[in-house]
Amino acid sequence: MTRLTVSVQPRPYEAVIESGILTKAGNFLRELLADSSLASHQMFVVTVPRVRRRWAKVLIQSLTTAGFEPRLIDMPDGERYKRLATVEKLAEKLAQSGADRSSVILAFGGGVVGDVAGLLASLYMRGVNVVQIPTTVLAQVDASIGGKTGVNLRTGKNLLGTFHQPRAVLIDPVVLTTLPEREFRAGLYESIKCGVIGNPALFDFLANTDPKKLRRNPAKLEWVIAESVKLKAEVVSSDERESGLRRILNFGHTIGHALEAETAYRQFLHGEAVAWGMIAATDISVATDRIDQEAASRVRDAVLRLGPLPSVSVNRRSILNLLQTDKKTRNGKLHFVLPREIGRVEIASDVPDKLVLEAMDELKRVSKA
Ligand SMILES: NC(=O)c1ccc[n+]([C@@H]2O[C@H](COP(=O)([O-])OP(=O)(O)OC[C@H]3O[C@@H](n4cnc5c(N)ncnc54)[C@H](O)[C@@H]3O)[C@@H](O)[C@H]2O)c1
Ligand SMILES: [Zn+2]
Repeated sequence: MTRLTVSVQPRPYEAVIESGILTKAGNFLRELLADSSLASHQMFVVTVPRVRRRWAKVLIQSLTTAGFEPRLIDMPDGERYKRLATVEKLAEKLAQSGADRSSVILAFGGGVVGDVAGLLASLYMRGVNVVQIPTTVLAQVDASIGGKTGVNLRTGKNLLGTFHQPRAVLIDPVVLTTLPEREFRAGLYESIKCGVIGNPALFDFLANTDPKKLRRNPAKLEWVIAESVKLKAEVVSSDERESGLRRILNFGHTIGHALEAETAYRQFLHGEAVAWGMIAATDISVATDRIDQEAASRVRDAVLRLGPLPSVSVNRRSILNLLQTDKKTRNGKLHFVLPREIGRVEIASDVPDKLVLEAMDELKRVSKA
């Protein structure tokens, strides 16, 4: 078991990583909430059918045994339901069930559930407590930590949101056994990202790991998740609202986001787009003499070794245009997070278009190889 503290306002909270913690969630929450003024035992578990069918029984049993009266609230599955309309429907259900200001919302699912339930919690009666219980690799190593909530607008992803820190994050690697293999791998790219930006040992481990074997090795999996969460927790603790340091978490995301947008979020899972984005950023790093060839090859090999990625066949000019639109919406500066060595990155805002185009060509070349 690993307990990590995320030091943010209004209060720090713990992320607990432990195989089987789902069975102990009730007792953990009882202790956590004991010292607060929360008289109510009302708990609302927001989830999606796929997760409910496989794992809700374990969670509900644990909560009930600990004296809570949990209620399950379903939301439809998928990114397209990450909309304000879903938040409103869930809020109606809360109100109908008599939820009050002392109720606690448990976000039980992947990143979509975490973002929607987090936003719901920050809005319902001007804010109730939320506990994140992430069930995908992506949500466990990344989305559940840091307090960002949000939904999509037609115009773009995550354009509507808040910062609403959870009271705790409970991470049980056991639930990952039912996750489709592609989703499992996609989340691991975010762990590789953590390795490159600040944890060489994590990087080395992932660079030499077969994801199929990792799935069947709870101890190692727990370690990978814990090291990733540790890095995110440290970064978030020092820069809660993403003004400076937190931007390093965007390694691979500049081009990654553009790839996702250009393919209408259909071709790549988020982590897969980030995987290509990390390769592109590393190529740009080489081209600007920031990193040596040998370290760059290690990053590229680690990413490609994890498994097949959907190929890149987008128009490179469209990617550049998307980046430029992005730039306009972000005060005129386009930032790239570029590796200097494995474990250290820097932010660059002076990357010439030509290098971006060349990096895109290289992604297409690697895709075909
Ligand atoms: N708030 C943040 O800081 C942050 C950070 C990164 C990503 N995100 C958001 O996270 C979302 C992506 O999250 P995701 O990749 O977890 O996708 P997701 O939530 O859509 O989950 C992917 C699929 O896996 C299923 N699933 C979840 N847990 C399962 C399990 N244990 N077994 C079987 N199936 C399971 C889900 O039902 C879903 O169909 C995006 O909307 C992204 O914007 C948020
Ligand atoms: Zn990401």
